[in-house]
Amino acid sequence: MRECGRGIPVAVTRMVESLITSGTPCLLSEKGNFIVADLKGRAALVTGASRGIGRAIAQRLAAEGLLVAVHYGSQEKAAAETVEAIERVGGEAFPVRADLRRDDAVDTLFAEVENRLDGRPLHVLVNNAGVQSPPAPEGAGGKGEDVTSVSGVTAAEFDHLFRINVRAPFFIIQRALRLIGEGGRVINVSSALTRIAWPLLPYAMSKGALEMIAPRLALELGARGITVNTVAPGITATDMNRAMRDVPGVEERISALTALRRLGRPGDIAGVVAFLASDEGRWVTGQLVDASGGLCIAPAMS
Ligand SMILES: NC(=O)c1ccc[n+]([C@@H]2O[C@H](COP(=O)([O-])OP(=O)(O)OC[C@H]3O[C@@H](n4cnc5c(N)ncnc54)[C@H](OP(=O)(O)O)[C@@H]3O)[C@@H](O)[C@H]2O)c1
Repeated sequence: MRECGRGIPVAVTRMVESLITSGTPCLLSEKGNFIVADLKGRAALVTGASRGIGRAIAQRLAAEGLLVAVHYGSQEKAAAETVEAIERVGGEAFPVRADLRRDDAVDTLFAEVENRLDGRPLHVLVNNAGVQSPPAPEGAGGKGEDVTSVSGVTAAEFDHLFRINVRAPFFIIQRALRLIGEGGRVINVSSALTRIAWPLLPYAMSKGALEMIAPRLALELGARGITVNTVAPGITATDMNRAMRDVPGVEERISALTALRRLGRPGDIAGVVAFLASDEGRWVTGQLVDASGGLCIAPAMS
């Protein structure tokens, strides 16, 4: 390999030229090596990052070099564990609490996020926090029943689902857009259940509403190079469905309905989010990306 005038091999120079031509940002490191300047040094906000899928997303984005705001609602210890896990491997993160049931949630969330970012733009927003079948929120008057049939759903439970799964991400996006710079990313976490007649109707309805954000907002923000997408996990092993998975045989039955023959793992979803957040994902916008391992893609699996 021949070296060019400044001690950089010609082949490396050509590779960097081709990266720049393709629109990939590059940096010269202190040691004189070219690196792809993708997510390093940027900032992300991941809602519901104390546990489950959100924790995996936070860890994955931090591993890509982002400073991550680890949002949570009530489980302070779990959020601290997410931050610790990130810091243990050299990443950067901080916890931020905001109960998305509350009217002041967006103000509370962004007061802390803006304070910690200290003028740094937000590059990635992941609206991941969500609830599926609420135990009745205190004082809301719901019966805390499993919302598996239409007749079992109270108005309070319905409102609770829409408040957290739809209203909160909508207004979080609205506020975040003040902080998101050119080329930023908005990623909403929906569910494969919007396309299947599963017995969690208000939940599926709330995720269906959430999915409507990406196409319209992608158009609105395209001129700023900001992409907006939705990721739809299938059944993924987290606290959200622990009770269901504890029923003998259920895990096997769901695996049989899934082309890849197992339940999802939080890291499966985090990988898809990381792709959309990365520079490699720059040409995908306004889309619904299924991350279900092929859940219910056939009438029946044999
Ligand atoms: N697991 C699945 O099979 C599956 C499938 C499809 C889609 N999804 C979607 O993926 C996302 C993550 O699900 P998951 O399974 O990881 O859930 P999870 O383990 O139950 O975690 C839920 C997260 O949301 C936060 N959250 C819940 N209620 C909140 C509130 N009132 N205020 C603020 N934060 C609140 C929780 O914070 P605290 O820890 O503080 O409570 C937690 O971090 C959700 O949007 C869910 O609908 C999940």
